[in-house]
Amino acid sequence: MQIIGITIGWIHIMATAIAIGGSYVLHFIIDKVAEDMDPAEGGKLKGAVGPLFGKIAAIMTLLVIVTGVMRSQAMGLLNPSVLLDTSYGNLLSGKIVIVTIITVNSVLLARNGIKAGALASADGAPDTTTIDAIGKQQKMLGMSNFILAAVAVGFAVAMRFIGAPEV
Ligand code: HEM
Repeated sequence: MQIIGITIGWIHIMATAIAIGGSYVLHFIIDKVAEDMDPAEGGKLKGAVGPLFGKIAAIMTLLVIVTGVMRSQAMGLLNPSVLLDTSYGNLLSGKIVIVTIITVNSVLLARNGIKAGALASADGAPDTTTIDAIGKQQKMLGMSNFILAAVAVGFAVAMRFIGAPEV
């Protein structure tokens, strides 16, 4: 049934577009705006947007993985001879490695977010040194995920040019 394959492929690309587009807006627009604001207000903006986007990104990543595996399975790509011995399979393996790193980074981002939130709302003067250090780490992890996802899109485009192997 072509319609099922088309729908799964559509969800795969839509989830990718939402995750990468959202990440672009967060890092290149909202973070910049927050940096120009009063630190307390900027912190509030980041504190409100970050966790919400984190949830959306987690759902989109899960959708990318599930639909990617479904398409790969339907196309007979999930076997070592394809993944290791063909250029198409090598690019697909690259995407699997990338999505694994993105998932690990996302867990660290969520953990840091919870830690920073707890520090910011703790009684007494906030520990700004630790909060700033966490903020820098969050920026690096978020930017890494954005770059890794962009590389994965490059791999996907190269896969289309090469064409899936006959299996
Ligand atoms: C960050 C992770 C990923 C991104 C950004 C991504 C992005 C994309 C994009 C944009 C396409 C469409 C390419 C085109 O038609 O020109 C695509 C296709 C595809 N992706 Fe992914 N993908 C990711 C992860 C995965 C994973 C983890 C798998 C498998 C386990 C996978 C399997 C596939 C397959 C098999 C196709 C071809 C589908 C077809 O020809 O119908 N992708 N991907």
